[in-house]
Amino acid sequence: MRHPLVMGNWKLNGSKHMVNELIAGLRHELSDVDGCDVAIAPPFIYLDQAKQAISDSHIALGAQNVDINLSGAFTGETSANMLKDIGAKYVIIGHSERRTYHKESDELIAEKFAVLKEAGLIPVLCIGETEAENAAGQTQAVCARQLDAVLKTMGAPALKGSVIAYEPVWAIGTGKSATPAQAQAVHKFIRDHIAKHDADVAAKIIIQYGGSVNDSNAAELFSQPDIDGALVGGASLKADAFAIIVKAAA
Ligand code: G3P
Repeated sequence: MRHPLVMGNWKLNGSKHMVNELIAGLRHELSDVDGCDVAIAPPFIYLDQAKQAISDSHIALGAQNVDINLSGAFTGETSANMLKDIGAKYVIIGHSERRTYHKESDELIAEKFAVLKEAGLIPVLCIGETEAENAAGQTQAVCARQLDAVLKTMGAPALKGSVIAYEPVWAIGTGKSATPAQAQAVHKFIRDHIAKHDADVAAKIIIQYGGSVNDSNAAELFSQPDIDGALVGGASLKADAFAIIVKAAA
């Protein structure tokens, strides 16, 4: 039985005030939640503040990115060891916004995956097709290619304990979520693809759905057998909405 994970990706949003307010709201709303792992991924600059604010709660800390280097002359970057040091547990990599705006390749993302595993952090590997790829019937091929970049360099055992987030790019921030059936079909494809390499890893890996998840559509998405929680953007910025999503997964 897989334990779902609902994680809030705050993206480029927040302030010192908002971090404290939102986490106080989450602590209040989620105090009695059991049966679902919960994490938040604030911007780097607020990680330490967020870590203090979630102390003694069951909310875990995530980060939104990592560099492949551990130290040295890499201006503006943050290493896996620094994230570990600050108390992060999860790190999002391969998000479509980084693939698009920062030109991150499958190979670079595989390197990030490796550096996180080495540091003992949990990669949340985002994969997913664009609207054009979806229309061209390439959804499975794109997801397979993005997964294979990690599988080829690291092997399936490296996926053990990691998290996959299927985020169709056309559903991100659009209010147009994939239907539960659409998402389930791709999640099953992802699990079957991993099973070709290692059936045990495939059976146990958490595969989140991401893309316009909200308090109204979460329960139906989570009722699908291969959807193990969500990576939530916009709705993770409101404590009440995020709590409803968490409770739907628990
Ligand atoms: O990583 C979460 C994400 O990209 C989905 O964003 O705003 O559609 O929930 P949103």
